[in-house]
Amino acid sequence: MTNSFSPYDLPAEKQLAQHFNKIKNIKIKDLFEKDHKRFEKFSIKNGDIFTDYSKNIITEKTLELLLEFAEQSGLKQAIEDMFCGKKINATEQRAVLHTAARSVFKKNNNPIVSDGADATEKLRKVFEKIAVFTKKITAGTKKGSTGKNFTHVINIGIGGSELGPKLLVSALKTFGNKNLTIKFISSPDPSHAKQILKQANPETTLFIIVSKSFTTKETLTNYKTARKWLVDSGIKKENVKKHFAAVSENQKEALNAGILPDYLFKTENFINGRCGVWSGAGLTPSLLLGNDLFADFLSGAYETDINFKSQPFEKNLPVILGLIDIWHRNFFKAQTWAIFPYEQALSMLPFYVAQLCMESNGKSINKQGKKINYASAPIVWGMPAPNAQHSCFQLLHQGTNLAPIDLLSPALAQNGEKNVEVLAANHFAQAEVLMNGETNAEIHNKLKKTGASENFINKTAAHMILQGNRPSISFIYKKLTPKLLGKLIAIYEHRIFVQGILWNIFSFDQWGVEAGKRMADKILSELTETKKKNNPKSVDSTAGLINIFKQFQTGD
Ligand code: F6P
Repeated sequence: MTNSFSPYDLPAEKQLAQHFNKIKNIKIKDLFEKDHKRFEKFSIKNGDIFTDYSKNIITEKTLELLLEFAEQSGLKQAIEDMFCGKKINATEQRAVLHTAARSVFKKNNNPIVSDGADATEKLRKVFEKIAVFTKKITAGTKKGSTGKNFTHVINIGIGGSELGPKLLVSALKTFGNKNLTIKFISSPDPSHAKQILKQANPETTLFIIVSKSFTTKETLTNYKTARKWLVDSGIKKENVKKHFAAVSENQKEALNAGILPDYLFKTENFINGRCGVWSGAGLTPSLLLGNDLFADFLSGAYETDINFKSQPFEKNLPVILGLIDIWHRNFFKAQTWAIFPYEQALSMLPFYVAQLCMESNGKSINKQGKKINYASAPIVWGMPAPNAQHSCFQLLHQGTNLAPIDLLSPALAQNGEKNVEVLAANHFAQAEVLMNGETNAEIHNKLKKTGASENFINKTAAHMILQGNRPSISFIYKKLTPKLLGKLIAIYEHRIFVQGILWNIFSFDQWGVEAGKRMADKILSELTETKKKNNPKSVDSTAGLINIFKQFQTGD
């Protein structure tokens, strides 16, 4: 799709729109009645990840038209362009090569040239430096300034400079170095930082400052707080730098800020901030996991990459998932997309996917610079599924929204713990009830059996009806390991890439976040101005808030 201003000018879209009007009220449970092979036809097994997308309002014709849509939108070429290092991040004139990171330890992979140099070689150097550093920290040959081994690592970063590292650490801590406690500080909230620092021993704490730009105010504020904490805790000022490592594309800024060269790691410009773990931001997880398990993580994602590049679209999981997302978003007009992991270790996954999707595809201008006249990214939310069942599933069952969801659960607990079946039982139950609902007749029968009066039944049954026909996609995976997590994250990355191609938008810049940062700097100076001023330079709504803030602070 080169010249079309909108993928919605494509022939396949017109056919999809007609098809949608025909099937939009079809019942999923009837589709199962008609075809007992539906489950088999609408699922994909990729090794130890099984994905069931049968509980959606789609038929074989729907998939056929969606796949046609993918073909006509130029998705095949777009995938090749990304993998071969074309500058598809056009507004920043950068390639997008998190996929190159996954192949760095594979034998004889071809160089991927970006800006005249082999990107894979650059990434290999990053990971090799991380590996050497990890070995020294783990072996205790690189110690704190008073000669003690590091026991605490505190990752200071925000957005993709925290979410990826935090997802890996929270998901895989059971596999990790038991002598290391890893914490995260992202918010500039001084009380929060104080809480985290209080739990650490300054002599044995290593901070990892993660910032691709090395200009993010929140991160630099926390860097300052950490330095002050070390000095206030008795670490000599000249030795403070031995307690800091940093990850940045902006090496000059990091060195100027006092980071020692062999404590400084690169994140390349062709690794997008929200994919930081595939480069220098993999440092904190690597310290936890060690080099071999971190390599497993990379190899899991590599497996997904190979499938994404080579599988025919009809059996290509990220393509199918991305197409179903489009079907929900642009035809059913779903406003949200939720991720509900049943395994607590995956509790950070919804946050990671939220940034991946909303920061990549939360756009309203297409690649030709025109305003789009169709929906792009949904609002992504989620939380651990067991909690969600007791807090927001009510809306999913009886609300007025069609709210597509992903449900994920393991077949085996990470350390062989018993009773993991309870997670799967809840997962499968929710998916079934969301699909089948509960009719008035079923409720009447159920209440009659309880001996409830006719009057009570007539008054309350209506409130108990579950409309059903609510879509869900189920993922079952064998066990959450570093390799499995790499596979899963790559599936979500490519699924969101597919969405962006079909929406004909640039998925790898994030211009929308800059204005807020600049405004915050301006308002901060007004908030911290000591001279009492009741007429700040801000606009009324903000000036009013500034005045109230100051009144609360000074008690006036
Ligand atoms: O403001 C958005 C953003 O740039 C994200 O894309 C990024 O992950 C985060 O802020 C942190 O940026 P940096 O890694 O440059 O500190």
